Amino acid sequence: MTKCIAFHSYKGGTGKTTIAANFGALLAKKGYNVYLLDLDVYAPSLGSYFDIYEPKKWINDFLLGNASVDDVCLDITKRISDDIKGRLNVGFANSSKEEIYKLEGNVSRQSSQMQLLRNFILLREELFVKKNADFVIIDTSPGIRYWSINTLAVSDIVILTLKMGDLDIEGTKKMAQEIYGAFTKFGTLCYLLLNRGPGYCSIPESQHNPVTITIGKHAGNPIQNSSLEELSNIIDIGVISEIPCYCDIQFTKKEFLTGLKYPEHPFTLKLLNLANKLETNATYSQK
Ligand SMILES: Nc1ncnc2c1ncn2[C@@H]1O[C@H](COP(=O)(O)OP(=O)(O)OP(=O)(O)O)[C@@H](O)[C@H]1O
Ligand SMILES: [Mg+2]
Repeated sequence: MTKCIAFHSYKGGTGKTTIAANFGALLAKKGYNVYLLDLDVYAPSLGSYFDIYEPKKWINDFLLGNASVDDVCLDITKRISDDIKGRLNVGFANSSKEEIYKLEGNVSRQSSQMQLLRNFILLREELFVKKNADFVIIDTSPGIRYWSINTLAVSDIVILTLKMGDLDIEGTKKMAQEIYGAFTKFGTLCYLLLNRGPGYCSIPESQHNPVTITIGKHAGNPIQNSSLEELSNIIDIGVISEIPCYCDIQFTKKEFLTGLKYPEHPFTLKLLNLANKLETNATYSQK
């Protein structure tokens, strides 16, 4: 039951990094050996959730053949909480101009690009085979970027994240049809995830159209999610989760792991529910 799960979106700022970081931490808390990788190589931000900005080695070093898995994946379990049954290991990306050039600049030299991709596939395999990873969670850049597409290619499950009130139907539709279609044909499972429901709210699983908010200042109001349903029908990708906003508790400028700090918050409960679904609904398929 090992799985590689990518969080991707058409537009930026939909919550990929937030959800990947919290989801990884919650899976580790449940007892899994989790590897969380930052493949948003152009604008990485996973470090801000763990206060790590200058690791000794980066994922870039592994991709370029200059570091081992142990060098680039830091075990940060103790750093995040004493209450974690499993392990959380994180690999960070270096977005300096020179590093991006190395990862992308050699586009004309196809052989070196192929070597980078081979090393990426090797990274996934080493994590599952040598490091006994239960889950590899990968954060990506939005849109159709080289390392995002590579990430989709090595993933078993892709979660296409959308933000409430900012659903780019046309763009997402085009991306899903042009890119995701190619991967689903070969067995990748794709799901839609709606992030940032309004206010402090809880969305009952059973109600879908219309969905009514049951807690908080927006209580009683139906959520206008018909666009999401329409999108889901057109691209034939089901909605796996609707994650509420946690703006009621995020008062600091600095990011923190809401999932660990507020174990009873609807945001956390929804992520745990997502974990339950992904634990059981698909088995690992060797690529
Ligand atoms: N459910 C939520 N409730 C409240 N705030 C949220 C929620 N999800 C994400 N955010 C906030 O929204 C902002 C954007 O989130 P995040 O950086 O995770 O998006 P992203 O998709 O990774 O962006 P990018 O595409 O730029 O990498 C962050 O400040 C984060 O704290
Ligand atoms: Mg991000």
